[in-house]
Amino acid sequence: MRRPFVAGNWKMNTTRETGVALAQAIAGEVKSTQPPVDVAVFPPFPYLLPVRDAIAGSGVWLGAQNAHPAAPGAFTGEIALNMLQDCGCQWVILGHSERRQFFGDTDAVINQKVQAALAAKLGVIFCVGELLSERQSGKTEKVLETQMSAGLAGVSADASQLVIAYEPVWAIGTGVTATPDQAEASHAFLRQWLTRRFNPGLAESLRIQYGGSVKPDNAKELLSQPNVDGALVGGASLKPEQFLPIIRAAAELAQAG
Ligand code: PGA
Repeated sequence: MRRPFVAGNWKMNTTRETGVALAQAIAGEVKSTQPPVDVAVFPPFPYLLPVRDAIAGSGVWLGAQNAHPAAPGAFTGEIALNMLQDCGCQWVILGHSERRQFFGDTDAVINQKVQAALAAKLGVIFCVGELLSERQSGKTEKVLETQMSAGLAGVSADASQLVIAYEPVWAIGTGVTATPDQAEASHAFLRQWLTRRFNPGLAESLRIQYGGSVKPDNAKELLSQPNVDGALVGGASLKPEQFLPIIRAAAELAQAG
C-alpha cells in the first residue's frame, strides 16, 4: 500500500506574506487532521526559510523547485543542494517541464542533478511527460521511456527518496487534465518501466504522482486510479481552499483503503 503524496509546486508565485499565510493554512490543517498522506510545499527560494518556520512541527515537508548539482563554488546565481538542506528542505523537484522548456535542462543535466541530490540524501520528485504533439503522434511511451532512462541513468534509490511525477506538458497550467484513463495508462507504463529497471518490489513501492491541472473537482477521480499515488499541484496549490480539498480527497481514498 503506497502512502499518497500531495505536493504543492508554487512555481514563481506568492510574496513572503502570502506564502507564509498559505503555508500556515496547510500546516494548520495537516497538524490537526493528520491525514494518512504525505504533504509537501515547494516555495520559491527566497521564501524557504519563512515557510520552513511556518510549517515547523506540522508534518508538512519543505522542498525546492530546482538545484545546481555542483558543490558550492563559483556558480553565480545558482543554489547548491547543501544550501537547500541548510534551509530545511527534504525534497527537490527535478526535470519539471518548465525547466526543460525554458531553462535548458536536458536529460543529461537532469540526470546530474538527480544523482547529486540523491547522493546528498535529498528526496527527489523526478518529472516526466510528453508534449501534445508527441501524444498526438503516438510517441508518449517513447518519450517517457527516453526521459526515464536518461534521467535515472546510474541511479539507485529507495522509495523514501525517489518519487516520479507524470506531468503531460499539455495539461500543465492549461485547465486541460489528462482523463483518469490517460493518466492511469501512463502511470502503469511507468511502473512497468520501473519494474524492469529496478525490481518488482521497489517498483511497487515507488510513488508516481500525477501533475497537470489537478483541481478539487478532478482530484478524487485521478487519485483513485490504481497507479496514481498522489499529485503534484501547481495552480491549485496556491489557495488553501483548493489545495486542502485535494489533500482531503487523497486522505479519504487512503482511508477507504
Ligand atoms: P498545474 O501545474 O497544476 O498548474 O497544471 C502542475 C505542475 O506544473 O507541477
